[in-house]
Amino acid sequence: MNTQLPLAQQIDLQISTTGPMSVATYMGLCLTHPTQGYYKGTDPLGAAGDFITAPEISQMFGELIGFHLVNVWQQMDEPKSFNLVELGPGRGTLMADILRVACRAPGFRDGLKLKLFETNPALTAQQRNRLESYEPQWLENFEQFSEGPILVVANEFFDALPIRQFVRKADGWHERMIGLADGKRAFGLAPTPISNDAMPTAVANAEEDSLFEVCFAGSEVMSRVAKAIAKQGGSVLAIDYGYARTQTGDTLQGVRNHAFADVLENPGETDLSAHVDFAALAAVAREVGLAVQPLATQGEFLTRLGIAERAAALSGANPGSAPDIRAALERLTARDQMGDLFKVFCAHSPGLNPPGFTA
Ligand SMILES: C[S@@+](CC[C@H](N)C(=O)[O-])C[C@H]1O[C@@H](n2cnc3c(N)ncnc32)[C@H](O)[C@@H]1O
Repeated sequence: MNTQLPLAQQIDLQISTTGPMSVATYMGLCLTHPTQGYYKGTDPLGAAGDFITAPEISQMFGELIGFHLVNVWQQMDEPKSFNLVELGPGRGTLMADILRVACRAPGFRDGLKLKLFETNPALTAQQRNRLESYEPQWLENFEQFSEGPILVVANEFFDALPIRQFVRKADGWHERMIGLADGKRAFGLAPTPISNDAMPTAVANAEEDSLFEVCFAGSEVMSRVAKAIAKQGGSVLAIDYGYARTQTGDTLQGVRNHAFADVLENPGETDLSAHVDFAALAAVAREVGLAVQPLATQGEFLTRLGIAERAAALSGANPGSAPDIRAALERLTARDQMGDLFKVFCAHSPGLNPPGFTA
């Protein structure tokens, strides 16, 4: 591939010379092409970017996750050395809010080994600025943990990993591919079917034209993290849009300038994401012996951790900000806003009881 050409031309050239590419290959190129991928360029977050995330809406989100993590750390007998890991830390806002709260617990700061996993150089620079005093290290793989338990947090990370899509036809499942029709990028199907037996039982006998998505990259990350936790103890908390049971449905979406955009247009300039199959992540974690909490909605999780009380305390301390705090509370927890759409997943060492999952 000639990496000097604009990404759109590189993709079209690859398709015209080697044939249609899978959705995962396309998504991978669009998001993490070494020089022109969406996550290799500028900061995509905030009003001037393409989307806004929970930690950027309010400090309450990170503070409550901080309370959650301190509680888990206390349940593990306050280890003298432990890894606090964030996957896809964005601007470092979530981790800064977590640490402001968590480091009030005596001993937490002393044992902390902060590890960040990030692909975007612009965001890495912001993380360095914001979190420098905690001496973070950036992970290149999932074998670089320090001694002691591992506490992992990931907000809107798994949805950014490439998915493959398959469509059910009378003779089996055909992979959805991206080719060229009249010179324009278009979806099509691979000619050779994959048998129903190769699909998860939850979807194998879905009706014709059903679409099934699988995220091997997400399962691989979860597998590596879960194996490390199984060995060293700890937990993984992942917040994202997604579903509790493996199911069919097309969830691939493009977002640009805070609006939905065609996934096949402007490769590298549009955020591409897909809903997370939490059942698949849970299966991977259980496979290595971790326990998995029942999936909570973001609204349930934050409410159980006391977001309403935190909002009242912040408003009391700063009455002028009360309307903004009220609006942020609504946005994070209301069922018709982020409260139901976003889910909270937690897998952990058996014997722990991470807060936020039971009433
Ligand atoms: C949607 S943003 C969420 C940022 C942050 N967690 C927040 O809530 O504001 C996705 C984050 O994951 C990072 N990311 C995406 N794909 C990645 C990959 N393959 N490897 C490492 N980081 C990745 C992005 O650069 C970004 O920091």
